[in-house]
Amino acid sequence: MADTITIIDNRTGKKYDLPIQHDTIKALDLRQIKVKDDEFGMMGYDPAFMNTASCVSKITYIDGDKGILRYRGYPIEQIAENAQSFLEVAYLVLKGELPNKKQLEDWRYNIKMHTMVHENVKTLMEGFRYDAHPMGIFISTVAALSTFYPEAKQVRNAEVREKQIYRLIGKVPTIAAFAYRHSKGMPYVYPDNDLTYAGNFLKMMFKAGESPYKVNDTLEHALTILFILHADHEQNCSTSAMRVIGSSECDPYSATAGAAAALWGPLHGGANEAVIHMLDQIGSMKNVPGFIKEVKDGKGRLMGFGHRVYKNYDPRAKVIKKMAYEVFEVTGRNPMLDIALELERIALEDEYFVKRKLYPNVDFYSGLIYQAMGFPLDLFPVLFAIGRTTGWLAQWEEMLTDPEQKISRPRQVYLGSGSRNWVPTIDRK
Ligand code: ACO
Repeated sequence: MADTITIIDNRTGKKYDLPIQHDTIKALDLRQIKVKDDEFGMMGYDPAFMNTASCVSKITYIDGDKGILRYRGYPIEQIAENAQSFLEVAYLVLKGELPNKKQLEDWRYNIKMHTMVHENVKTLMEGFRYDAHPMGIFISTVAALSTFYPEAKQVRNAEVREKQIYRLIGKVPTIAAFAYRHSKGMPYVYPDNDLTYAGNFLKMMFKAGESPYKVNDTLEHALTILFILHADHEQNCSTSAMRVIGSSECDPYSATAGAAAALWGPLHGGANEAVIHMLDQIGSMKNVPGFIKEVKDGKGRLMGFGHRVYKNYDPRAKVIKKMAYEVFEVTGRNPMLDIALELERIALEDEYFVKRKLYPNVDFYSGLIYQAMGFPLDLFPVLFAIGRTTGWLAQWEEMLTDPEQKISRPRQVYLGSGSRNWVPTIDRK
């Protein structure tokens, strides 16, 4: 059986044999299909990239129909069950293999050496209004790091790239915590490198006054898992943004800020915040059927449900749902959990959702946990960005080292006016 596909252009009767590799054809191979020699040639038209592979990747595998997610081949359930720390998983995602003891020690050391931010970064953050959204502060501050590390522009230098990776993974929790404390008017707490990645973040967030801060094991574990579950998700909106921005060979701080901006929207990383608003608006169990009816009538969406890729239960949502109960043992049950469970129960049986294969996604339960742990709503996308920075950087590194990649530049189908002459203001209708 030949690995080719034959296309017959019915406009001309011409036949074209295009090679198939990994179940794809090269879009550039379509260009030979034309009616006249001087035509541009055929392109694929794919708004929102519904069926276009923009790269080859060895980082994350998703089978959306079966609800499978793997980092570097390891199923997410096994990773969540066995990983000892977030940085162990970050190493796996970035380097492709699980680290041995020495590799992990070195990796940890290198990242922990970069958790502090320059004092001027603090000054910069102080310039934001007291009520500035922490995601806005986060995005701007990450972008500003490019001015502190001008050598980061040397993106073709592997050593320089590695150093920026340490810096970004090390500093994003610090920036996130400072953004939160700024909004509360609380003094910043500096990183404690004796703690784990998640433990240090909890301390920088919640330590009050001079009393020592004791990290709660369950909450530290829950946050570690949440960071792990968000570490990468192949070519989603923010990761594609990272690759597109990075393809112009700008520094990784600017690219990461752009990716974080893409993450902020309610259809992407902002969805967990939207879930809480939705549950709040529903208010009580008795209003759930009415709310479902409104969604089915097209008057809104069931936030935290549906996914471009998963047409099955999001495997991350399964892990989070289980963990929610462990967290609530410590924090007390989030009163909105019952509404969420009821929404899920109805939606999983209702024909509208079943037919469209709408299942809970990662954001459906993560917000409830974050809220129970004391994180304010507007910090939710920032928490997502802390975990995802690892994935963005892994994809950025892969993009830069892939000889097939070039500056990103999609095509368009132009349907505007043909050529016409300029009309002076006085003659315009
Ligand atoms: N509630 C109700 N109906 C929905 C929902 C939802 N959450 N999601 C999709 N649908 C319906 C659409 O109305 C559409 O119905 P139709 O065929 O009758 O027109 C059908 O399902 C397909 O929806 P699309 O919008 O075409 O699906 P798409 O793949 O473009 O969107 C998305 C995916 C953006 C995630 C969508 O499901 C959504 O808006 N969900 C809510 C927001 C959310 O939870 N986002 C987080 C995603 S996970 C993440 O980013 C980490």
